[in-house]
Amino acid sequence: MRKHIVAGNWKMNNGLIQTETLISELKQQEKTSDAEVMIAPTFTNLWHAFQSTRQDDIEVIAQNMHFAEDGAYTGEVSAGMLKSIGIQTVILGHSERRAYFKETDESLAKKVSTALAHNMRIVFCFGEELSDRKAGNEEIVVENQIKKALFHLDASAFKAIILAYEPVWAIGTGETASPEQAQDMHAFIRKTLMNKYGEITSDEVSILYGGSVKPNNAKEIFSKPDVDGGLIGGASLKAEDFYAIVNAF
Ligand code: 13P
Repeated sequence: MRKHIVAGNWKMNNGLIQTETLISELKQQEKTSDAEVMIAPTFTNLWHAFQSTRQDDIEVIAQNMHFAEDGAYTGEVSAGMLKSIGIQTVILGHSERRAYFKETDESLAKKVSTALAHNMRIVFCFGEELSDRKAGNEEIVVENQIKKALFHLDASAFKAIILAYEPVWAIGTGETASPEQAQDMHAFIRKTLMNKYGEITSDEVSILYGGSVKPNNAKEIFSKPDVDGGLIGGASLKAEDFYAIVNAF
């Protein structure tokens, strides 16, 4: 059975004090669902967040990493560095990284391989832009993003991969994909995986939806059969909202 997962991507929000406060508020929330809970604070707060959630049902994950093992890459953070502080999971391919930091399918394929070589789990993000959807190209765009960054892998690698479909036009805009649009795309993603890797692999992969998921729409989105969870931006910055989404399962 594939897992339900709700991950909070804090993006470039929260200094150390706010991180402490939000984590202590998160710990006070009651969890009534079977979803795995993840939070992704910024690099500078990962160690602190990891330490302060050691006894809790919350996994602290990273928002990004470099593909190289180490070396002259000013400002970057390696998989080994993340592992050295206990981080086991990394988000790769977020649309903001693709758009603002020019991450390409090719560099993401390398990052994916590096993370797997370090036995890390990956939350791999992809999704079409508004112009793609208006032109009816959303499936081909998503298929290409998946193929180019992931199809060099063996089926067994997918045990460590969580997919996150985030249509760019729904991120931070308040505009959500309808539950039907999310379901249609998630079913298409699963079919794409099935064609390459077979049914067992495609059935087992968790596919998260991201883009303006809020307490008032999470239940309906999560009720769709191919939606296995959410990658949450804005609403993950408020403990009560985040757990209302976690508990929507
Ligand atoms: P919002 O939930 O703020 O739309 O952000 C979604 C997202 O980008 C999560 O990675």
